Amino acid sequence: MLRPVALSIGALLLLLVALPDSFGQDPEAAGDDDDSAAPAVVEAPPVPVEPLPADTLVADLLVQLGEAAPAHWLEADEAMVTRGREIIHEGRTTTPEGKRSRVASPGYLCTDCHNTVREDPDLMASDPEARMAYAVENDLPFLPGTTLYGTVNRTSWFNEDYVKKYGTLVEPANRALRMALLLCSAECSQGRVMDEWELDAMQAYLWTLGYQLSDLELSEEQHQLIARAVDDEALRSDAIAALQGAYLPYSPAHVREAPADRMAGYGNDGDAARGADIYRRSCLTCHSSSGKGDPVRGEYHLKDSKGSIGELYRNRGKGNNLSFHQTITYGTRPFGVPIAYMPFFTQERLSDQQVDDLQAYFEQTLGVE
Ligand code: HEC
Ligand code: HEC
Repeated sequence: MLRPVALSIGALLLLLVALPDSFGQDPEAAGDDDDSAAPAVVEAPPVPVEPLPADTLVADLLVQLGEAAPAHWLEADEAMVTRGREIIHEGRTTTPEGKRSRVASPGYLCTDCHNTVREDPDLMASDPEARMAYAVENDLPFLPGTTLYGTVNRTSWFNEDYVKKYGTLVEPANRALRMALLLCSAECSQGRVMDEWELDAMQAYLWTLGYQLSDLELSEEQHQLIARAVDDEALRSDAIAALQGAYLPYSPAHVREAPADRMAGYGNDGDAARGADIYRRSCLTCHSSSGKGDPVRGEYHLKDSKGSIGELYRNRGKGNNLSFHQTITYGTRPFGVPIAYMPFFTQERLSDQQVDDLQAYFEQTLGVE
């Protein structure tokens, strides 16, 4: 309900700008007026203001406009941001005392499962098919976790089925980003409980990955409204609504069911070309060779070859981990040293259609009719 209000104020501004000075006057009659007639009073149209810089952080702007700072806001300096970036991209950093920190996880980096750049063309939707098209266009991996870009703009984490499925383990992480970081580093990455300074550092880095104004799909009028609201308290609630109405405040998460008939898949018409993208941008990011003879993660080695694909395809009907339907739907249990496991894909991270696309790619590669 808030969006139309913001729009109508924008529309009103536009209307005022568009009105000619002589509005309400008959141009023919104007010249004939005798001097005694009072001139028509026309309100000056608002002078357009400079829009705010494109790289303005939306989360900062909301606080500037009067929203309460979220619990994950913190006073950060460059050194913290650097430490956070190093933990998330490299697994370890330098402690505030100048020592090498312990690795966050022996088996995983955060970036094995999360991108740190934008990955959705439309920030109002979590659509895996649109996301894959965007990944191809921007050469991004297609991963089981939500991108960390925009994490600080969300108001809940590990949503819906994660809460339903894991209950009390996930509830604190659902409500607080700091708890989500704690949970994901200890559980998802099979790492350790991070120290307070490490959580601060990751939070500081994530703050720099917040949505910028240019990420949001806003009209000219909304940009005007937002820029004016900085100095005009009366416009603030509409400006806040315009900003908050331009992105999803959480990343939806619904678990899938394996197909009833694993041999057949979900029964959609699969697209082999899209399936190839999924295999390369998703499966192979972890399972292909690291260049040292081992897979990037874990022990299960896959290539973009008839051999690997034949094995995946042959085993698809099984009720165990050898079936890709099993691992995509349920993931695998952690095992081995260093501990690795496969996270499951929610419907928002890989659609049923995309699973069928993957199967179509396998069939095309193997020449199966
Ligand atoms: C093995 C895969 C994996 C690794 C490694 C991993 N995560 Fe996650 N993470 C997930 C999955 C799956 C979720 C579930 C929610 C989602 O992102 O869809 C998640 C959720 C999150 C969330 C909440 C996202 C949301 O909006 O719901 C944050 C924040 C997060 N992880 C941060 C991290 C950080 C920081 C690290 C590194 C210390 C890390 N993760 C390592 C898989 C992983
Ligand atoms: C985030 C990393 C990651 C991604 C992405 C990923 N996997 Fe996995 N997968 C693993 C890990 C780790 C294991 C555990 C076995 C191991 O140590 O390699 C595993 C296990 C498996 C297994 C079971 C192997 C066995 O012998 O038990 C199959 C099959 C599998 N993955 C297929 C896939 C397919 C198909 C995709 C793409 C849709 C995919 N994986 C995407 C990390 C990943």
